[in-house]
Amino acid sequence: MIKNILITGGAGYIGSHISEVLIRNKKKIFIIDNLSSGYKKLINKKAKFYKVNILNTKKIRKIILSNKIDSVIHLAANLIIGEGEKNPKKYYTNNVKGTNNLLKACKNTKVKNFIFSSTAAVYKDGQYRVNENSIIKPKSIYGKTKIRGERLIMNFAKKNKINYGILRYFNIAGSSPSGKIGLISRKSDHLFKNFSIELMKKKPKLKIYGTDYQTKDGSCVRDFIHVSDIAEIHFLILEKINKMNISKILNCGYNKGLSVLEVAKEFSRQSTKKIEIIYTKRRNNDLIKIIASNNKLKNFIKWKPKFNNLAKIVKSCLDWEKKLKNNR
Ligand SMILES: NC(=O)c1ccc[n+]([C@@H]2O[C@H](COP(=O)([O-])OP(=O)(O)OC[C@H]3O[C@@H](n4cnc5c(N)ncnc54)[C@H](O)[C@@H]3O)[C@@H](O)[C@H]2O)c1
Repeated sequence: MIKNILITGGAGYIGSHISEVLIRNKKKIFIIDNLSSGYKKLINKKAKFYKVNILNTKKIRKIILSNKIDSVIHLAANLIIGEGEKNPKKYYTNNVKGTNNLLKACKNTKVKNFIFSSTAAVYKDGQYRVNENSIIKPKSIYGKTKIRGERLIMNFAKKNKINYGILRYFNIAGSSPSGKIGLISRKSDHLFKNFSIELMKKKPKLKIYGTDYQTKDGSCVRDFIHVSDIAEIHFLILEKINKMNISKILNCGYNKGLSVLEVAKEFSRQSTKKIEIIYTKRRNNDLIKIIASNNKLKNFIKWKPKFNNLAKIVKSCLDWEKKLKNNR
């Protein structure tokens, strides 16, 4: 049975939601985070926190051994696409070397399961609905570091006989219905976050980058998945790979494409203010359209999403943003 779970990056947006679900399911949680983009206030009170860098193999190994860690969920990474292009070294060090050092710390311990947060950004652009066997060709440095991470984990798992779950997240949005956690960082460059921040202003302006793509309305198309659904997936996958002694690579998305313009219109609909939608030119490195074929995931864990609804996701983002604004 899974008991003691180490979450790297547990003070971040997704890590805090995963902690919430696992703690609700009676797991003991240990968090490693250097707080480079995470926040102390997102750390679950029931988790044990270590302010440690994933590059520090020695310290992590001590934490793994002293807490009898049986499973690792590895989220700690740098993830801003534009920043990665400007500073590849930082991204390779943190995301690739960091993953490697963390794996070294797991060697010859009780760690039996390893979950990794990968991304849709590993796929070749232009394939639209991608399954796990679609062509891998990351456009960004960030995507390249994630595919390197995946390979390190697969090699390690084979040699050391552990199970892995490589989860390729699509675009995460929303915040927990508990109202206690959500996305804080303003640097994250998430569409829903940017729009939520705008809606707190007197005269909100929602920017659409690119209006001439070959998509339903000319703007980019993404598969947005609610963060609470993603968090629950981690719990279910961990239980399943442990029980079956099996490893899987799985897309995590709803198999549903929403355009950036559709999202902007929903934000506009939920606001009482006059919203200006600004159409502007394409950005470099944006994938045109990508959605997840999620059959493999659904078959593996008998998963039914609970938050697959644009209006609900937008509302949860706005509720969270209002809370942040009132507490500032
Ligand atoms: N947010 C998304 O839409 C999305 C999509 C695909 C994949 N992912 C992946 O999910 C994971 C979590 O993303 P998030 O959105 O929660 O981001 P986040 O920035 O909120 O969380 C990352 C956490 O990792 C910590 N961290 C970074 N480098 C570290 C290091 N060297 N040592 C220790 N801690 C470190 C940060 O302080 C932060 O708390 C990342 O691996 C990211 O690549 C996110």
